[in-house]
Amino acid sequence: MKLFDVYPINNINITRGNGSLVYDAEGTEYLDLYGGHAVISIGHTNPHYVKRLEDQLHQIGFYSNSIEIPIQTELAQKLGKVSGKDDYQLFLCNSGAEANENALKLASFYNGKKKIIAFKKSFHGRTSLAVAATDNPKIVAPVNETDNVIFLPWADEAALEQALKDNEVSSVIIEGIQGVGGIQVAPEAFLQKIRSLCDEYNAVFIADSVQCGYGRTGKFFSHDFAGVNADIYSMAKGMGNGFPIGGIIISPKIQPAYGMLGTTFGGNHLACAAGLAVLEVMEQDNLMQNAAEIGSYLITELKKLEQVKEVRGRGLMIGIELPEELAHARKELLNKHHIFTGEAKPNVIRLLPALNLTKAYADRFLEAFVTVLNQ
Ligand SMILES: Cc1ncc(COP(=O)(O)O)c(C=O)c1O
Repeated sequence: MKLFDVYPINNINITRGNGSLVYDAEGTEYLDLYGGHAVISIGHTNPHYVKRLEDQLHQIGFYSNSIEIPIQTELAQKLGKVSGKDDYQLFLCNSGAEANENALKLASFYNGKKKIIAFKKSFHGRTSLAVAATDNPKIVAPVNETDNVIFLPWADEAALEQALKDNEVSSVIIEGIQGVGGIQVAPEAFLQKIRSLCDEYNAVFIADSVQCGYGRTGKFFSHDFAGVNADIYSMAKGMGNGFPIGGIIISPKIQPAYGMLGTTFGGNHLACAAGLAVLEVMEQDNLMQNAAEIGSYLITELKKLEQVKEVRGRGLMIGIELPEELAHARKELLNKHHIFTGEAKPNVIRLLPALNLTKAYADRFLEAFVTVLNQ
């Protein structure tokens, strides 16, 4: 059987990882500033993480949501503490798309309305509603097309107010920092406006934190910079450091009912052990503070480079916009300097490293990047 060929891939076989480093089958070392697309939050093969998963696997790996699973409660309590949203409720699933799918659906159950407001250049995943709320017609199949999603220009307060006025909007979904869209930080005033308009028109504020959340920006949710709470936060990527786990946390104003949401795999023992290990390491090693410090160091240094068009982002979610003539920079970083980075079209390099990236590794990248720019 062949693989269904949907990924344009690099010809590299990574077989081993340790912290911010990964190694290919020949033993070549790579600096990982991509984290497998913002997934590796506490570093590859973190010893506490490996042990917690190993121990859990020796006890029980999976049982369905038809029984008590105390480790889910343990995860919810820890998440409440680390995120500062103690009074929210946790629903666990397996991926970012699924988290957004559940968030959008739950919002509609809550207020009985149908319309969704999303923003230009948004990415919310590939399941049916999530992809319908994603601003990329190429990945929306005819069966996913719906009139229920309204795309508004990014950070346009007047357009937002106008769209909410007819009182048909169920939810407003927004990334705190657009990832696929090229690292665009949502202005704090705009997030505050979403909050007040959602209150006024009984719409649900959904904070897509799949990529920008989980401590990456130095705050647990990047939306927190605005000083207002969303009604639902969706999470995935960094949550399990590579173990598939996603979830939404839900404001106390939204009440659950049996059967409203559900999943077979979501919240299984092994996934919760991974989720707990991540939060334990984040807390123990002060990773949010490290993300803020190393991130602002990188941003400051990158802004000094005159060849760079613009540097955007917060903490360790950084976009470096390059002019057309430097479009080859990312490939050079990988092939010549063995540094993995991400990209956003057309010419943005995305840095999404583990939150425990050291200054020495940040410097290793800066040095290589300057060399590439000057060639
Ligand atoms: C902001 C955002 N939301 C949702 C998703 C979808 O997550 P997943 O690929 O886990 O379904 C992504 C993935 O890149 C994302 O960046």
